[in-house]
Amino acid sequence: MIKEIKAKELNTKNFIKTKVSEIQDLVGSDTAINALSGGVDSSTVTMLGHRSLGKQLKTIFVQNGLMREGEPERVAGLFKKLGVHVEVVDARKEFFAAMKGITDPEEKREAITQTFYKKVFGRIVKKSGAKFLLQGTILTDVDETVAGIKRQHNVFEQLGIDPQKAFGYRIIEPLIQLRKDGVRKVGKALGLPTELFKRIPFPGPALAARVIGEVTPQRIETVRKATLIIEDILKDIKAFQYLAILHEDRVTGMQNGKRQFGQQIEIRCWNSVDARHATPTQLPFKTLLKLAEKITSDVPGVVSVTYNIANKPPSTIEAI
Ligand code: XMP
Repeated sequence: MIKEIKAKELNTKNFIKTKVSEIQDLVGSDTAINALSGGVDSSTVTMLGHRSLGKQLKTIFVQNGLMREGEPERVAGLFKKLGVHVEVVDARKEFFAAMKGITDPEEKREAITQTFYKKVFGRIVKKSGAKFLLQGTILTDVDETVAGIKRQHNVFEQLGIDPQKAFGYRIIEPLIQLRKDGVRKVGKALGLPTELFKRIPFPGPALAARVIGEVTPQRIETVRKATLIIEDILKDIKAFQYLAILHEDRVTGMQNGKRQFGQQIEIRCWNSVDARHATPTQLPFKTLLKLAEKITSDVPGVVSVTYNIANKPPSTIEAI
């Protein structure tokens, strides 16, 4: 049973001090590796790991082809300013090959997990000689996986999986007692810039969690373009998270005066504190119209835009 540390009870100074010494004790004179995705959790773990281990920590950004527009360069650039070198590893081909033909949501998550931990990281860790993987699993990830809601790609021990046996390295999870609001406080205390610790959450399986049906480079590009528009138009809205979902069903529409059996994008915008419960944000209708207009005009093949108005539960924040 993991003991939760609530954000309001969290003393960031003590928390950081304790975690730094725990990480140093575990790693000793060995080396550790961590995967940075640019999300709040992995960014916070990167800074915590950097503070604990300095050059004994190697930070990797896995370019899986499923990230938002311009992410690898943006994230590596931001961390460079913080004195952290980030190595970008291109694994796009492997991820798309693993997801080919898969439409079932849990199979999709499993394919991403195996590609990430076993293939890509297995190889990187072996090559580097690192014995530990430092990662930003948080309590909500564990809860949802154990409850069987979604198999979060970064949860193993609580499912009876020993990473040492399965992948050949140990996993250290310094944020596992926290939820998102607590992680933000720690990220801020570690000196992350606002644009990183205040970032809206983004799932480990990245845009693949937002494509219903088969994940192909082209379908990812469609949801990536819609995401860019939504994140730009809603950036000043005080919501927990906003995102685009690409549906599998097609609908008849019209583009350039011609019939187009086109694609549908669903917009989701959530109010939530810790992602366990969420309600749709009551966006002004004018904003919704602006979003629909921009998405249908700028994203090729999209002829329909909807807004999700269901609560979590029974909905979940992502679609997959
Ligand atoms: P759901 O979709 O389960 O999402 O309501 C709850 C929160 O978690 C994020 N999410 C994930 N984060 N790995 C992660 O690190 C995952 O596999 C994953 N799936 C969902 C989601 O964006 C939301 O903030």
